[in-house]
Amino acid sequence: MTGKVPEDLLRMSDLDPPTLTELLDLAEAMKQEPMGWEHDLRGGAIGCLFEKPSTRTRVSLAVAAHRLGMAAIVLNRQELQLGHGETISDTARVLSSYLDAITVRTFAHTTVEQLADASTVPVINALSNSHHPCQSLADLLALREHFNTLTGMTAAFIGDGTSNTCNSFLAACAASGMHLTIATPPGYETDQNILGEARELMARTGGSVSLTTEPIEAVGAAQAVYAEVWIPMDRPHEHVQRAKHLAAYRVDDALLAHAPREAVAMHCLPAVRGQEITSEVLDGPRSLVWRQAENRLPTAQAVLHTLITTARRRTT
Ligand code: CP
Repeated sequence: MTGKVPEDLLRMSDLDPPTLTELLDLAEAMKQEPMGWEHDLRGGAIGCLFEKPSTRTRVSLAVAAHRLGMAAIVLNRQELQLGHGETISDTARVLSSYLDAITVRTFAHTTVEQLADASTVPVINALSNSHHPCQSLADLLALREHFNTLTGMTAAFIGDGTSNTCNSFLAACAASGMHLTIATPPGYETDQNILGEARELMARTGGSVSLTTEPIEAVGAAQAVYAEVWIPMDRPHEHVQRAKHLAAYRVDDALLAHAPREAVAMHCLPAVRGQEITSEVLDGPRSLVWRQAENRLPTAQAVLHTLITTARRRTT
């Protein structure tokens, strides 16, 4: 690796541009030859602490671990002493002596940070309320496979600019030198600190980010149009107000008609069909969605291999 491999993957911005490129290269190679790395981490194990539901992240990490010769142990808060008051830090410290990495899906991003602070093995954020780096890696690999490049590409994110998916996709675009327009209703704008961090990196990579309230304006030059779920897992009580505020931000054929002919539609899944994206788009010829989902596995494999092998080298 020519970049600096981080100890943990908590946010996309933990990956500098060279490391990101090399991770995508490795994921591409692992996609071609899934069992080509099966001996490297043989006998190891990862923990999967999931405090929210998951289909793609949970299964892709478990299969990725298996392909690297490792076991994946599902950890349920209620079945751990965490559920009886043991601290996250004490838990991380002990788990570090059994495991080669800890993957965590939780609510507050500070929980992921606490876990990483106390852990002596890599911690991988499998989604927090603020960041979803594992998803963005699969997104970038899907885009790179489709367009054969990332640098200079244009994309639009439509809907909730405060979402973990948007935050991480923005950071992914920044590291890749992409141009992103985020279209949100008032009140759903991306956090200024996250925007500032992305703009700082974009000044070096040649990317850019702009904000609008107009979806049609956002997709006008976009080669990729990203739809995002309107009701996050931890905010079911906001479904009425969110559905009302975001109603004009559905990705459908009518919106895509304003995008360039080559534009693809993206979604991290699970989707609420007919809400933030229509079935026509999801299942249609411009959908990159299933490729994004498929790429969760090789990118998870690349992340586990890179972080764990680097950590082992650092401690020997
Ligand atoms: N996109 C994503 O993270 O899917 P899951 O919630 O099913 O893991």
